[in-house]
Amino acid sequence: MSTVIIVGAQWGDEGKGKIVDILTPFADYVVRYQGGANAGHTIIIGEEKVVLHLIPSGILHEKVKCVIGNGVVLDPQVCLEEIALLKSKKYLKDDSQLAISLNAHIVMPYHKLIDKLREESSGAGKIGTTGRGIGPCYEDKAARLGLRVCDIIDEKRFIERLKMVLPHKSAYVEKLFNSPPLSFDEIAKSNIEFGRRLKKYACDSVGLLNAALVAKKNILFEGAQGTALDVDHGTYPYVTSSTTVASGACSGTGVGPKAIGHVLGIAKAYTTRVGNGPFPTELNDATGELLRSKGKEVGATTGRPRRCGWLDLELLRHSKMVNSITSIALTKLDVLSGFDKLSVCTGYKEGSEEPIYKELPGWDEDLTNLTNLKQIPNNARKYIDFIEDFLGTPVSILSVGPKRGNNMIMKNPF
Ligand code: GDP
Ligand code: IMO
Ligand code: MG
Repeated sequence: MSTVIIVGAQWGDEGKGKIVDILTPFADYVVRYQGGANAGHTIIIGEEKVVLHLIPSGILHEKVKCVIGNGVVLDPQVCLEEIALLKSKKYLKDDSQLAISLNAHIVMPYHKLIDKLREESSGAGKIGTTGRGIGPCYEDKAARLGLRVCDIIDEKRFIERLKMVLPHKSAYVEKLFNSPPLSFDEIAKSNIEFGRRLKKYACDSVGLLNAALVAKKNILFEGAQGTALDVDHGTYPYVTSSTTVASGACSGTGVGPKAIGHVLGIAKAYTTRVGNGPFPTELNDATGELLRSKGKEVGATTGRPRRCGWLDLELLRHSKMVNSITSIALTKLDVLSGFDKLSVCTGYKEGSEEPIYKELPGWDEDLTNLTNLKQIPNNARKYIDFIEDFLGTPVSILSVGPKRGNNMIMKNPF
């Protein structure tokens, strides 16, 4: 039995979807453990590009079982659309390939509405959320006002629960935002229909995964977002509302910490962020623009341009600490070809967020089609060595292009 947690080491969009895709052939189960449709995980196979928001990125491999864990907040409409998209592309031929936790919370229409209204009324202090209702849904989970998959698949139970919850939500949007009242009938009708269509996937995922562990199966846990967006360990309040760090894989699936083998931190060779909040190494200049265009840095969920900057090793050191990162998958190193010099942040000036930079020499060679570490230009090798030495953590996977084949696996985490 082996278990590997994939965790974003920066502000998300590190290339987690791609790394999950290349490790799935070694796994029996791929499990999403937190977040919701705010995630956008891109996988490119040949000329085909698939962006997944809720369903684990392992789904593009036929033999693996994909699980949406209890820690995820599930937008039933997005989930059904994603299922339809996958089926149209001849994936998910067998419905038993997908399992959804009975305990996962449902993103309701009023969660998306509240997300939007709050952002609109926040002015300069707005977070820049994805508008997917994530924060309001996790709030209701903690407030014990949530509706779960076990409710939505049971009409009677759903109606009872919605009757109890909706007055709270209605009062909130009407009194605070002057919004029209929420329609019980509309919400009930559409969601009961979603529940009817999702019922076949609903299961006791905690029992399923723990039985898999007993049977010595391999499990890959797919994180969404990244460490700097974690509600406890990120750049609060400019964060998402879930536990994005590795420990979220335990609470978000019901697998205990002793069952965790390897924590694979996914780090981009530079840094990006979508949405507002601090970003010490951000480059608001031509270099930042060059990173954005070379790296095609546009949000996979919202289409917003991503803010770009140099690699922040101090951030990665923090990520290593709070996640217990065993090894690193370094992605998008190919994007750094053609820079004269590269800067990496090795710390901040005392009492400030001003980065201290170390300059490293660049390289011109295209890395995209390289398959072996020996072919790597000297200065690219030096860049990787510097990261490994600074963090005291090995780079086990090097990703040098967006496609399935563009990688070097130095040490398989499974
Ligand atoms: P995720 O949210 O962590 O799964 O990452 P996203 O899919 O949001 O963003 C990563 C983007 O970079 C996607 O467009 C990927 O296709 C692309 N990508 C992933 N790895 C590499 C790489 O090594 N090189 C290049 N050039 N692109 C990559
Ligand atoms: P993946 O899994 C990058 C950001 C939003 C915003 C903040 C809060 O693709 O890496 P939310 O909608 O979650 O309440 O927004 O978090 N954010 C992400 N940024 N990648 C993501 O997911 C993100 N999911 C949320 O831009 O700043
Ligand atoms: Mg993404």
